Amino acid sequence: MANPANVLELQVPRIIEIDVGLREAVRQQRPGRRPVSVGGKRELAGRHVSHRLAASGSVSTCDNEAMTVTRPLTPGDADTVAELLRVNRDFLAPWEPVRDDEYYTADGQRAVIEGALERPDSVHPRVILNEAGRVAGRISLSEIIRGPVQSCSLGYWVSAGDNGRGLATAAVGEVVAVAFSDLGLHRVQAGTLAHNVRSQRVLERNGFTRIGMAPAYLNIAGRWQDHILFQVVAEQAG
Ligand SMILES: CC(C)(COP(=O)(O)OP(=O)(O)OC[C@H]1O[C@@H](n2cnc3c(N)ncnc32)[C@H](O)[C@@H]1OP(=O)(O)O)[C@@H](O)C(=O)NCCC(=O)NCCS
Repeated sequence: MANPANVLELQVPRIIEIDVGLREAVRQQRPGRRPVSVGGKRELAGRHVSHRLAASGSVSTCDNEAMTVTRPLTPGDADTVAELLRVNRDFLAPWEPVRDDEYYTADGQRAVIEGALERPDSVHPRVILNEAGRVAGRISLSEIIRGPVQSCSLGYWVSAGDNGRGLATAAVGEVVAVAFSDLGLHRVQAGTLAHNVRSQRVLERNGFTRIGMAPAYLNIAGRWQDHILFQVVAEQAG
């Protein structure tokens, strides 16, 4: 395992190398666009299945083999995720609920991960991978509701050292495809703090639209804070 103090340093040399290619890949990651190669090594498939067709049942599943920016979270990720959370504790603090110290340990993360994996009907957790294939963040579909609602909530974070390289944008594209095709959902919701412009850009680039402001919606950084709510529905995404 990498020394926590070295995690960000290890990621620096490749930033320039992938920046242009990855951003171009993300730009092309719209429905109907062809997959593109990144640096000759990676492929961002994006929305390789029409959400409209998937939602109507004409397409059975999403091709997870083609997903290269995310993969399902496993208990074996506990050490790495805990280490990333420790390295990014100050960076994430303004955007996250207050966590106890246990949350930042491998045992704490193992419990979080196992708890999530025990509830596949309500949570779909994945890790976000950087261009080197290392875990760079987390993304989850949670609060999955069935019946006439067919909706879920989206949450994500990317390690500070991997920010600004299009990873969140690509990862959101992949999990939205999972939501509409694999999980057969109709709607994905996300909420951001009013000043979280980066996250808003990520959502807008993936076809999310603002649907309103929810006062005192979530307890973030120790305060009940207003959130701007976004959604994308299968018909819009297709
Ligand atoms: C929000 C977050 C996930 C973005 O991750 P990322 O991998 O850097 O995101 P991307 O590179 O895909 O896109 C970031 C976008 O924000 C833009 N951006 C970056 N800094 C910005 C700033 N200060 N003001 C405005 N836009 C900014 C980028 O230009 C980019 O938009 P573009 O692709 O249209 O150019 C990451 O910063 C993070 O984890 N933040 C803390 C946790 C968090 O906020 N989670 C989301 C909760 S709703």
